[in-house]
Amino acid sequence: PLPASTAANSPAIDTVVVLGEEARDETSPVATAGRELVDGISKILGRAVALGDASSPRTSSTLVIGTRDAFSSLEGVPSSSSPSPLDHSDGYWIDPSSSSSSSARILGHDARGVLYGAFAYLSKLAQGELSVESAAWGSAPQAPVRWINQWDNMDGSIERGYGGRSLFFEGGAVRDDLARVKEYARLMASVGLNGIVINNVNANASLLSEASLRDGVKRVADTMRPYGVRIGLALNFDAPRTLGGLATSDPLDAAVVEWWTRTTQLVYHYVPDLLGYTIKANSEGQPGPLSYGRTLAEGANLFARALAAHGDGLVFYRAFVYDHHLREDNPKNDRASAAVDFFAHLDGAFLDNVVVQVKFGPIDFQVREPVSPLLARLRKTKAAIEFMVAQEYMGQQTHAVYLAPQWQEVLSFDLRVDGKPSLVRDILSPAGPFAWPTTGYTAVVNVGRDTTWLGHHLAMANLYAYGRLAWAPASDARALLDEWTRLTWSTDAEVVAAVGSLLMDTWPAYEGHSGNLGIQTLCDILYTHYGPSPASQDGNGWGQWTRADATALGMDRTVATGTGFAGQYPREVAAVYEDPATTPDNLLLWFHHVPYTHPLKSSGKTVIQHFYDAHYEGAATVQTFPARWARLRGKVDDARWAHVAFKLAYQAGHALVWRDSVCRFYHALSGIADDKQRVNNY
Ligand code: GCU
Repeated sequence: PLPASTAANSPAIDTVVVLGEEARDETSPVATAGRELVDGISKILGRAVALGDASSPRTSSTLVIGTRDAFSSLEGVPSSSSPSPLDHSDGYWIDPSSSSSSSARILGHDARGVLYGAFAYLSKLAQGELSVESAAWGSAPQAPVRWINQWDNMDGSIERGYGGRSLFFEGGAVRDDLARVKEYARLMASVGLNGIVINNVNANASLLSEASLRDGVKRVADTMRPYGVRIGLALNFDAPRTLGGLATSDPLDAAVVEWWTRTTQLVYHYVPDLLGYTIKANSEGQPGPLSYGRTLAEGANLFARALAAHGDGLVFYRAFVYDHHLREDNPKNDRASAAVDFFAHLDGAFLDNVVVQVKFGPIDFQVREPVSPLLARLRKTKAAIEFMVAQEYMGQQTHAVYLAPQWQEVLSFDLRVDGKPSLVRDILSPAGPFAWPTTGYTAVVNVGRDTTWLGHHLAMANLYAYGRLAWAPASDARALLDEWTRLTWSTDAEVVAAVGSLLMDTWPAYEGHSGNLGIQTLCDILYTHYGPSPASQDGNGWGQWTRADATALGMDRTVATGTGFAGQYPREVAAVYEDPATTPDNLLLWFHHVPYTHPLKSSGKTVIQHFYDAHYEGAATVQTFPARWARLRGKVDDARWAHVAFKLAYQAGHALVWRDSVCRFYHALSGIADDKQRVNNY
């Protein structure tokens, strides 16, 4: 509840009137919006709120909600209520003011828009920002695709999941109890997310069996639908062989086509509003069209045709295709080049309902990566970006690392396609340079059954910010964080300031004590992706190489002398990365192989001294976290306070392990002393 003094100025709603047919349809997001408003307003304002329908009397304490169509058929949309957000899917418009002759209103472009409007109203109310005098406002998302990928396995485990076992699966089937799935859908809707692929991209074909679809997948879809969340499935390319008993999974084989056509028919029978399919193929040992001598486009189009027969389902074909047995002794080999090498020449070869899903960086969710050049290389074929809320390389939720500042940097990067302004967030918009109607955002989230969802209460800031950025990608990471703190922890200004400053320090600190200057995260890349292991980067086929030796380190990715990766960017960007003198320091070692003694532009320090200093500074920042959090004791609830205090104490310790491991490794390798005499005496 809001403090009484704030609540006194809030609109004193006592009835929520839901307009239209949808009011009576329990599965409609409009009906959900009505229930959420009644529940939310009564809890926030601490007063009874009733649910009404079109026949209910209206007063100045009534909030009327409905789609624009329901409003216009029942009472006519007032002219001031036709601003542009209502012209866009999922858009809403809210007029919180009321008088003796008019009630407060929430209008949606469609049913989901009403629900998003309801949550936007509740968000402002809960933050104490709403009064009867507040001006009307509206909003519509910039992109239609705002999805989550869960990497859940049917046995109930979650690949790279750090919040307990799967909400969806256990023992090879969908769980009986889907109460948390409903809460998850609610949570997603509250931040504007509209789709979820529920199983691991390393997919188990048995998800597609009729029993699994009928008894399991259908229930998940039915559970999430009232929140406007549609579900999709990750497919195993070899399912015709392994599940269907065919001799091949060749995408051009008639029996294979027929198998996918029938299977897709069955999927639609149980999930008529299917979101689509996500495909990881020819990647990290997964089968795919290349295994049958077919192109990636031929593989994707197989599913695209099967889906097109039914609805608006999309194929999300992952660009994460690369050879994980690369030979490091060939200086031209480069995993970073793979996405463009595999996909750029296929631009236009994919059918209309295919979207290529591109990880934000060319390697794999590292602490620092340049933006994937593939986002500048597809035009006729649509792309969407893939982020990772699960902190696979970022401390796996034993560390608090707020990632929205990183995403914000990615989204505001200018790729200069054709020499014109081409911010990533504009490319990912139907109004952008390529006018892709189906583009937007995906993120690997991997919540689990843990009561914290992600394994760390502070990690939820990432899920919140992801949803809000997918809706409005020009949002400011700090502003989103403050909003989240007010909604999740407290509206007390001291708490908001303290949580905000602590979390804003986390990504720079993590980069400081892990991998600097674009060298990648430097965690163990062979098994856990957790904890320091700079030696594990090289000497294997995974291609996350640093090429560190006694005198120099970094990947030469220039066109002139290296792998040529820099040349995959549009001309102006490529020129910046081609030259160490213009490459930003924080990506120096991503693009260049330089001596440890190479001076940095920003500080004049050598690369090795920067490594030492950044590791000490990053770890020192983390040492401040427990004390900063301790000051919030009693200002937030005790249980969550204690959980976070425990985690931050661990993080502070582990940051020292990181610092000392990485410093010791490069000190031993380079033999170069630390100017400040810290590393020398280990
Ligand atoms: C990473 C991750 C794998 C995952 C893969 C993917 O490599 O470690 O667990 O399967 O990404 O995105 O497909």
